[in-house]
Amino acid sequence: MVREKDYFNIILDSIADGVFTVDKQWRITTFNKAAERITGFTREEAIGQYCYEIFRTNVCLERCALRETMQSGQDIINKELNILDKYNREIPVSISTAVLRDEKGEIIGGVETFRDLSLIKELDKEIHEKYSFQDIISKHPSIVNIFRILPDIARSEATVLIQGESGTGKELIAQAIHNLSPRKDGPLVKVNCGALPETLLESELFGYLRGAFTDAKRDKPGRFKLAEGGTIFLDEIGDIPAGIQAKLLRVLENKEYEPLGGTSTIKADVRVVTATNKDLERLVKLGQFREDLYYRLNVVKIELPSLRERRMDIPLLIEHFIERFNKKTGKEIRGVSDEVMKILLNHPYPGNIRELENIIEHAFILCKGPQIQWEHLPSYLRNQKPSTTERRSIREIEKEHIINTLQRCSGNMTKAAQELGIHRTTLWRKLKKMGSI
Ligand SMILES: Nc1ncnc2c1ncn2[C@@H]1O[C@H](COP(=O)(O)OP(=O)(O)OP(=O)(O)O)[C@@H](O)[C@H]1O
Ligand SMILES: [Mg+2]
Repeated sequence: MVREKDYFNIILDSIADGVFTVDKQWRITTFNKAAERITGFTREEAIGQYCYEIFRTNVCLERCALRETMQSGQDIINKELNILDKYNREIPVSISTAVLRDEKGEIIGGVETFRDLSLIKELDKEIHEKYSFQDIISKHPSIVNIFRILPDIARSEATVLIQGESGTGKELIAQAIHNLSPRKDGPLVKVNCGALPETLLESELFGYLRGAFTDAKRDKPGRFKLAEGGTIFLDEIGDIPAGIQAKLLRVLENKEYEPLGGTSTIKADVRVVTATNKDLERLVKLGQFREDLYYRLNVVKIELPSLRERRMDIPLLIEHFIERFNKKTGKEIRGVSDEVMKILLNHPYPGNIRELENIIEHAFILCKGPQIQWEHLPSYLRNQKPSTTERRSIREIEKEHIINTLQRCSGNMTKAAQELGIHRTTLWRKLKKMGSI
């Protein structure tokens, strides 16, 4: 016959999670097989030792979960931390804690269960590595393809045109091209061509010499000069006026330009990367953009799909931004609720990835717990609460079911109520509420 205590140990050893218990002096009183496997310590080595000598976590000193549980009486569920095993290898685990009480309800110790997360973490890392490149996250086939060709594009000196809606990551791609290029130790100079009026943009790009105009008290180098040996990133290239289009064409064709007020030409050793959220081809057709310049810029074109076209990336991006804001704010948010995920998957994102990033940042400010909830979302998203539509549809499903049953029972309420498993008066009440009586 199996004694009660042995029976208890058999059960404990059949559990896949590590389990140990401690008494009120923090000495280990039970240690199951999985705990032996994960920590490397045998039961004999563990029992009687202080838990912090065997289950060595990175938070033992400042935030022991068992101590918190024993003080507050509150269980802790699935807290992630790292432990050192017997051989001082770091192992990620997820722990849960609870208080142990005797028959009288007195606390006699605590129990901690823990799960080895090494494999999950490794898989996570693999997925992350597969779907991320230079801080760009995506598993959309066309972007994964960009990851593949980006090193070759970067190595070449070709002019690159990056096209995509606002917030799709154009600047991120420009940065990656620079970082992967032989010019990476040189400067990356960014110019927003849409932000400046023509004369200012011209002097900003090409610089001016002293006396070029009344206020030009001394020479001022342009951005092309500042980008010497590196890359110039011309953002909003679709907005540049005709006069500058001609000058830019000359830089691209002959690698030279003249600063304002100057007569001698300056040689430019600069790689040009441009971006636009406009359809340049259409602008060419409309006569607003020089065709020859378009072809010069368009040596390599990278088209970034909108977030609407790559919804599969939304969960990955959410995870990425949560990780980033956790690092920035010191919070330990682990994810979003199912309801939030549903809303975020359905939103059309006119602002693309930047919008999603802003949504997560907003939620971070409001979220105090481990998970982002509906109420942490910006108000324009909260109005799209899916459960209200779901609630309505459940009611509709019920209505349909009741009506079908009644029809089958030829309008006999008693029979229909029986079939529906509800009381006749309940059916009556439901029909009245539905406006069917
Ligand atoms: N694939 C991605 N993975 C991770 N973060 C991304 C990705 N794409 C964009 N982001 C982030 O989204 C934000 C917007 O990206 P970025 O500034 O590169 O977009 P953009 O296309 O240049 O936008 P705009 O047209 O408004 O200038 C940045 O914070 C960037 O880090
Ligand atoms: Mg940009």
